[in-house]
Amino acid sequence: MTPTPRPPAAALSTTLVHPAGPAGPWWRDAVIYQVYPRSFADGDGDGVGDLPGITARLDHLADLGVDAVWLSPFYRSPQRDAGYDVADYRDVDPLFGTLADADALLDRAHALGLRVVVDLVPNHTSADHPWFRGALAAAPDSVERGRYLFRDGRGPGGSEPPNNWTSVFGGPAWTRVTEPDGTPGQWYLHLFDSSQPDLDWSNPEVRDELEDVLRFWLDRGVDGFRVDVAHGMVKAPGLPDWDGTTAMIDGGHDGTLGSEDGATGAGSAGPMWDQEPLHDIYRSWNRVLGQYEGDRALVAEAWVEPMERLARYVRPGEMQQAFNFAFLTTLWAAPDLRAVVTASLRANDEVGATTTWVLSNHDVVRHTSRLGLAVPGSRPNGIGATDPQPDEALGLRRGRAATLLMLGLPGSAYVYQGEELGLPEHTTLADDERQDPAWWRSGHTERGRDGCRVPLPWSADAPAYGFSPTGATWLSQPASYARYAADRQRGVPGSTLELYRTALRVRREQALGTGSLAWADGLTTSTGAPAGDVLAFVNRDVLVVAVVGASEAVLPPGAAVLVASGPLGATGDGRVVVPADTTVWALLTD
Ligand code: NOJ
Repeated sequence: MTPTPRPPAAALSTTLVHPAGPAGPWWRDAVIYQVYPRSFADGDGDGVGDLPGITARLDHLADLGVDAVWLSPFYRSPQRDAGYDVADYRDVDPLFGTLADADALLDRAHALGLRVVVDLVPNHTSADHPWFRGALAAAPDSVERGRYLFRDGRGPGGSEPPNNWTSVFGGPAWTRVTEPDGTPGQWYLHLFDSSQPDLDWSNPEVRDELEDVLRFWLDRGVDGFRVDVAHGMVKAPGLPDWDGTTAMIDGGHDGTLGSEDGATGAGSAGPMWDQEPLHDIYRSWNRVLGQYEGDRALVAEAWVEPMERLARYVRPGEMQQAFNFAFLTTLWAAPDLRAVVTASLRANDEVGATTTWVLSNHDVVRHTSRLGLAVPGSRPNGIGATDPQPDEALGLRRGRAATLLMLGLPGSAYVYQGEELGLPEHTTLADDERQDPAWWRSGHTERGRDGCRVPLPWSADAPAYGFSPTGATWLSQPASYARYAADRQRGVPGSTLELYRTALRVRREQALGTGSLAWADGLTTSTGAPAGDVLAFVNRDVLVVAVVGASEAVLPPGAAVLVASGPLGATGDGRVVVPADTTVWALLTD
């Protein structure tokens, strides 16, 4: 371990939070790029992205400089929740290709030096899974029903749901079945859509089956798994009523609350979340991964707080990483960001885990758009044409600053497809195009996640901006995507694509991912006043200065700019000024 980072220019005082570490397994400092298969690249022209389309574009990711790819689900599925409803865990949906296509993707990625993480959806299956079909055809108390959470209803004739839980997507979390003899029967639990019945993880058969699924994909060469709803598989005994919300991806604060303690607003305290027996499952999975060569990783999608509670998923012998949604959900405010970064590093260091950072994914409004809202960083569940619209230019400026801040932090970072192009959310998608079950399950009060899932623009002048050879797209793309197309940005100095490429290269050269974090205080404005709205830290030999808001900060003498998220200013005596909503990395040379 390198005990202390280089002291910055004399005028700054530093507070060490996290020391640099030695190089470790790849996932400790990896930048992992999330591919959402339906929207990345369409090889066959049906308007939906597919595995051959991804394979053909992997060069873009190698050129970008990321270390790994995480693929959202591509398994056999009726696609009621865009593939997070799996009907066969061991096969590829024909929409996306074949198992041979998956093998070809893995081979090509590995040849390019990219690791591959696949999604695992263990909380629920699709209602089309043979197990669930068998359960519907079987009697109450049968082996088949025992794989899921079937219960008798309450009230006269069992006509009321077994408890008062609601679905994360809105509406009740229970659906009543019609028994094979035609009578109204039991109810089954679904924390998400009714097409996603929850498995009963107290059943050893369920555990054995999913471990076998892990082995199936490990045998094919995957480097890890992103575990969907990793905090939800086990429910409290007796399934007690719960008067709180069943919030997760749509449960964020509305921008009126700060999150100085790293709170996501996820409300993870309910009896459906974060139950102790989960950890035994992850210890067992860790042993399965350990039976394979190389370093394989488990990544928890766990909306759990506070941070110390989340860190329990990445204790030795459990998972390797957990998504840091507290960072994603923090408002664009320097004290809030500083608090969440400190809390994240401290909690993970306590258990010897790496800290992750993420700003965008397929479940949230893209960060360039969130940061252009009236309350920057607030998190509506989707934006529609009649909602207040983000300021696109301001959002992009802040989005680039937020990214450079994120990539300067020690740990592992996630990049969601299209953010390297600075893509905004599609905020005017026609409501009749929406496919997210959250839109209709919420009674059309939550627009949902389609706006961040729009197919990528590759070439400004091609049909569907190069997404598909026929011009077909499963969701329509806004006209603005032409300006963001990859071919308009590649090789163009100052473009967002080139900013990401440069940042990823410098991050690697300076070993920032395994680096340190010491807060640096004492920066001033060009008039010599203390700089407000500033987040400044030293990571190894690099000073990262993020002006989070309308202020400015002057770089200390001897700090040589490596990367900047936007244009910089200068003082009369030639010192560098970092303006509002801008981040800079500068090498400390004295
Ligand atoms: C979290 C996934 O990221 C989201 O897209 C999905 O709808 C739910 N889990 C249910 O699987």
